[in-house]
Amino acid sequence: MRDCSTIYLNGVRREVRGREALMMMAEWLRKEASLPGTKIVCAEGDCGACTVLRAFPTPDGTPRFEAINSCIATVAQLDGSHIVTVEGIQNGPELSPAQKAMTDCHGSQCGYCTPGFVMALSAMLERHDQVDAKTASNYLTGNLCRCTGYQPIIDAAVMARASKTHSVAGRYLNDAATDDLLATQKKPVTIKNDDVVYFAPATLRDATTFAAHNPGFRVLGAATDLGVQINKGKPLPQAILSLHLIPELYAIKKNRTGITIGARVTLADLRRATMDTAPEFSRFLNLFASPQIKNVATLVGNIANASPIGDTLPFLLIAGGTVHLASRPGGKGPVKKRAVPMTAFYLGYKKLAMEPGEIITHVSFDKTPPREFLRLYKVSQRKDLDISAVSGAFALTTSGRGPARVVTSARIAFGGVAATPVRVPGAEAALQGVVLSPDLIETVAQLIAGALTPLSDARGTAAYRRVLAANLFRRYGQEVLGV
Ligand SMILES: Cc1cc2nc3c(=O)[nH]c(=O)nc-3n(C[C@H](O)[C@H](O)[C@H](O)COP(=O)(O)OP(=O)(O)OC[C@H]3O[C@@H](n4cnc5c(N)ncnc54)[C@H](O)[C@@H]3O)c2cc1C
Ligand code: FES
Ligand code: FES
Repeated sequence: MRDCSTIYLNGVRREVRGREALMMMAEWLRKEASLPGTKIVCAEGDCGACTVLRAFPTPDGTPRFEAINSCIATVAQLDGSHIVTVEGIQNGPELSPAQKAMTDCHGSQCGYCTPGFVMALSAMLERHDQVDAKTASNYLTGNLCRCTGYQPIIDAAVMARASKTHSVAGRYLNDAATDDLLATQKKPVTIKNDDVVYFAPATLRDATTFAAHNPGFRVLGAATDLGVQINKGKPLPQAILSLHLIPELYAIKKNRTGITIGARVTLADLRRATMDTAPEFSRFLNLFASPQIKNVATLVGNIANASPIGDTLPFLLIAGGTVHLASRPGGKGPVKKRAVPMTAFYLGYKKLAMEPGEIITHVSFDKTPPREFLRLYKVSQRKDLDISAVSGAFALTTSGRGPARVVTSARIAFGGVAATPVRVPGAEAALQGVVLSPDLIETVAQLIAGALTPLSDARGTAAYRRVLAANLFRRYGQEVLGV
């Protein structure tokens, strides 16, 4: 058992204990590790000023450095990782390629956002020798600049070339450090500070035992939801459970019809894993948050957070999504497992069909059948890094050809139109067995508008959301009909 978070910080092994381990990484870097190059601006994962690079070795994968937001990740949850900050990317007297390109292209004015941009560019150069402007923009979705204007920064990204001398992986991912982290990851962690206890077990049995003995415990996934709440003043939960040391929860399994995603699988890995099996879902995940968020945030966190506008939920509702739960009632006996279909998982606003002491171990869903016409849509006030006002998921199969095509199955789900994500059974039934036509699409769009009871909030009025939902289906109808 360890009482610390063990990391390699710019190549140096560190053990972080007690109060410091429960701090957000960005704050800890600045206040405790004397590394103030990492900036904190929004403290909500929105601006990227706090970007650092993280590589988490696993027994069967090659670790890679990826950009993450350090303002909403506790030091404890980054245990077992290599972390590189802006102070660690320059090798010798020469600037790193990202730093040099930013200075050559005048990509900085007040400079406050600059370390974050340099780190996002450094992550990009770990994957690409050079990029075009579109790829650069994708890598920089999670970084905001208030003074320079983005063109010089994009120019810098396009001008930058990866260099072996400055490769972060080449410099920091040596076998000795990685083997040490892998050995360390086998030892569970307990950290105590005041009345908070943080536990990271190495087995599911120990995780469910902790859950049984600590009513009110919270699982800490990547904290891209929880971390924001904590930074906004919500106290740390008194019993925190991190599943990051349980190897089986990183698994992605595929069989002939379905795919199963462990609780620790990130959205970035999910996006890559579904490119062939659920391509529309994979494409849709491009619109989810930013690289810094997707590189750590989990699908299971999105499901358990239970926001009615969680972006993955409408898809899972129509794709046979099933939540797999584990518990150990009374902390005794074998681990009890059960599965709940997503359609029965959301009982009310943020109310889940979970028993006390249960944790989610994985989620499964169907591969998209080749003959199914599946589309996912998200409407938000801006395209990237924004929360949906309404999202929609539609899937139809048909038989026959041309104007005689008959609907053989229909599934429709929305987010942002009720206290939970919802299916619309009345609209689905109206499509079943009917010849596909513009009139049918219009009838169903009106049924959808009539069936939904959205709320008004900052992202849109109830009336706006109702119109939006019906219009998303009209758009889908045009795509299905090919008009
Ligand atoms: C800048 C920013 C942009 C975002 N953009 C989007 C977006 O475009 N679309 C969107 O839908 N969301 C978005 N989010 C929200 C968030 O990133 C997602 O909901 C993410 O999937 C949460 O995953 P996590 O691992 O970080 O969860 P955490 O924050 O760690 O946890 C979320 C909740 O799930 C619970 N939980 C986690 N794992 C388990 C488990 N195994 N068992 C039981 N309970 C568990 C936690 O206790 C907590 O209640 C954004 C967040 C930020 C900060
Ligand atoms: S400080 Fe803005 S994303 Fe971290
Ligand atoms: S240079 Fe000032 S915020 Fe970007």
